[in-house]
Amino acid sequence: MTNELRLGVNIDHVATVRNARGSGYPDPVRAALLAAEHGADGITAHLREDRRHITDADIARLSGELPVPLNLEMAATEEMLGIALRHRPHAACIVPEKREERTTEGGLDAAGQHNLLAPMCAELRGANIRVSLFIEPDPAQIEAALRLGAPVVELHTGRYCELDGEAQVAELRRIADAAALAAKNGIEVHAGHGLTFDNVVPIAAIPQIRELNIGHFLIGEAIFDGLGPVVKRMRALMDEAR
Ligand code: PXP
Repeated sequence: MTNELRLGVNIDHVATVRNARGSGYPDPVRAALLAAEHGADGITAHLREDRRHITDADIARLSGELPVPLNLEMAATEEMLGIALRHRPHAACIVPEKREERTTEGGLDAAGQHNLLAPMCAELRGANIRVSLFIEPDPAQIEAALRLGAPVVELHTGRYCELDGEAQVAELRRIADAAALAAKNGIEVHAGHGLTFDNVVPIAAIPQIRELNIGHFLIGEAIFDGLGPVVKRMRALMDEAR
């Protein structure tokens, strides 16, 4: 098994700051290029249905200008499917989306939404886009991902990041067990949500995990130390954990 652990930098919140003033800056594409220069293996962007941060124009520019793969996070809607098929990103991560939520709260119900997700996964796969399903670290969801033929799952680390003590250890074990189950069944495992310098190492040490997608913390920390050094430090922590 390869020991590689890729870092996908999510640049959504550069766009959040830009959109707060309706200005043209800060530019998320500039942030993506800088992140790639400092060790990001890929760039992740979530085109939300309400376009609260990343816009259609950002996706068009990211699709044309990045030197590393683009992972498009998207809700399971016809509109988003059309956008993905038009831009053909390297990967599309299907996430649950509710307009009133602050961020992606909880994973996709891959089991309960099989009939919605099956044709969507097939169309994305047919366009050579690597499909990933953002799910809770739950065996039932992994079995559902298998039935959908998803080559990748991204395990939601949000709960792990919010807990502490024994409860956090138990959640970490749930993530490790889910990663092992998915990998044993030939599914590539990614993880993300809520990861920081302080909580990333135990997740990065799970041997089956191949990619972490990290955004909010990195963009916030970049205010103090600059995006390049912050991406480099996250990369170093991930490498040390392997
Ligand atoms: N992975 C997925 C599927 C997400 O939806 C998000 C948040 O947009 C992330 C990773 C990154 O989470 P955070 O911004 O908390 O690092």
